[in-house]
Amino acid sequence: MNRSPRNTLSNLIVVGAQWGDEGKGKIVDLLTDHFDIVARYQGGHNAGHTVIIEGKKYVLHLIPSGILHPKKLCIIGNGVVIDPLALKNEIDGLESAGVSCHGRLFISNRSHVILEYHRLAEKQDEDSRGEERIGTTNRGIGPTYEDKMGRRGLRFCDFLDPQILRQNIEACIRTKQGLLPAIKGISVDKLFADAQKLAEELSEYVADTAVLLNESIDKGKNVLFEGAQGTLLDIDHGTYPYVTASNATAGGASTGTGVGPTRIDGVLGISKAYTTRVGGGPFPTELLDELGERIRQEGQEFGSSTGRPRRCGWFDVAVVRYAKMINCLDSLVITKMDVLDSLSEIKICTGYRYKGSLMKSFPPEIGVLAECRPEYVAVKGWNSRTAGIREYEKLPQLAKDYISRIADLVGMEISLVSTGPDRCETAIVSQDLRLSRLIPSITQGNI
Ligand code: GDP
Ligand code: IMO
Ligand code: MG
Repeated sequence: MNRSPRNTLSNLIVVGAQWGDEGKGKIVDLLTDHFDIVARYQGGHNAGHTVIIEGKKYVLHLIPSGILHPKKLCIIGNGVVIDPLALKNEIDGLESAGVSCHGRLFISNRSHVILEYHRLAEKQDEDSRGEERIGTTNRGIGPTYEDKMGRRGLRFCDFLDPQILRQNIEACIRTKQGLLPAIKGISVDKLFADAQKLAEELSEYVADTAVLLNESIDKGKNVLFEGAQGTLLDIDHGTYPYVTASNATAGGASTGTGVGPTRIDGVLGISKAYTTRVGGGPFPTELLDELGERIRQEGQEFGSSTGRPRRCGWFDVAVVRYAKMINCLDSLVITKMDVLDSLSEIKICTGYRYKGSLMKSFPPEIGVLAECRPEYVAVKGWNSRTAGIREYEKLPQLAKDYISRIADLVGMEISLVSTGPDRCETAIVSQDLRLSRLIPSITQGNI
């Protein structure tokens, strides 16, 4: 078995360092040239990963953002939960945009399937929470993971077997109907027939992706692992219960694909130059004033999956330092620098004060986090255009100072800075930073 030395990033995880929507899709697409395979390892179509190539916009939900590179393989790993209809629609949408998935998209036979009653269960659960609703994407993600952990879920390999499929649907409906009145309206025959049709249509994509990935790595192929959501939405490490139902953090890449941790060489964190969050839950640096609205408009902060307005706030060092620890980040990418172009003053939260004392670590109690008061440093805004700048040296000095300040406060190197949504218009690699050292084929010229 090959194991790459740690001075190269043959197999790299890209992970969100905040509450999702950090620009992972854009960065994954950008890095895909340097890898052979891109693999999603958790979440489902709650994710919305945007890639813009020469003005053409693609939003990927289940399919890895590497799919836009025609020669690369894409994997949906066992840790992902798949709504077959959403997947079929996504494949069809790509096909009609001229992007073929045939022969290069593989779905794990161990991934779990989302069915209609999962969405119904989620709606009921959210409604019962009233004011304390999580603000989920209503895609049935949580209830599907619940069934997986409850050992009554439906895996893709079983979805393909009509007998097991029917048995599973019947058993689920039987066990859930006491708890879920709406389920009584579901016709088992229709659910089964629709599911079976989708199973037939998707069967060509189903594979033992753990074998595929491990054999590819044995042959020297490089894998890019694409995280969905973000560290603070992780079921274990996030702001529970205001989280998603999977391990979005780097550890999830191993369990969610079947590639052992020692075969993975590095972790790249993605963070915006400020912070956003969609849905409920505490958000210490949230700006509830005009400034928050201004950032929302400048950054077009509306959900890629649901269109919901994203809550906006200042960059939070406590959050990203925590993400650095939980994921053991090697390096950080800062996206959406251009969104701050017109601000004359920018604040950075350096830590939290709780009942007068500085917090030493990120608190697990939701009530404590809600009561934390951010400590800010104010820095001068660069007040000029960074949008589209591709060379680090060409950024205004105050923008470079902002990046260095964040790097110092978080305690890690920043390897890429994104200054716009388009693939080519945007990322900058600073030559002497870690990512460009670790992936020698990435240089300023060829990104
Ligand atoms: P993901 O879920 O982490 O892939 O991020 P999303 O795609 O949900 O949200 C990021 C949004 O910001 C998308 O609309 C991107 O097109 C956009 N974006 C990414 N990087 C930049 C950037 O550097 N500047 C600007 N203005 N937009 C960006
Ligand atoms: P990407 O991959 C931002 C949020 C929802 C909600 C919580 C739980 O595009 O960064 P769920 O439907 O997962 O049970 O919802 O998680 N959420 C996201 N927020 N980006 C995402 O994905 C998200 N996926 C889920 O808004 O607060
Ligand atoms: Mg998103």
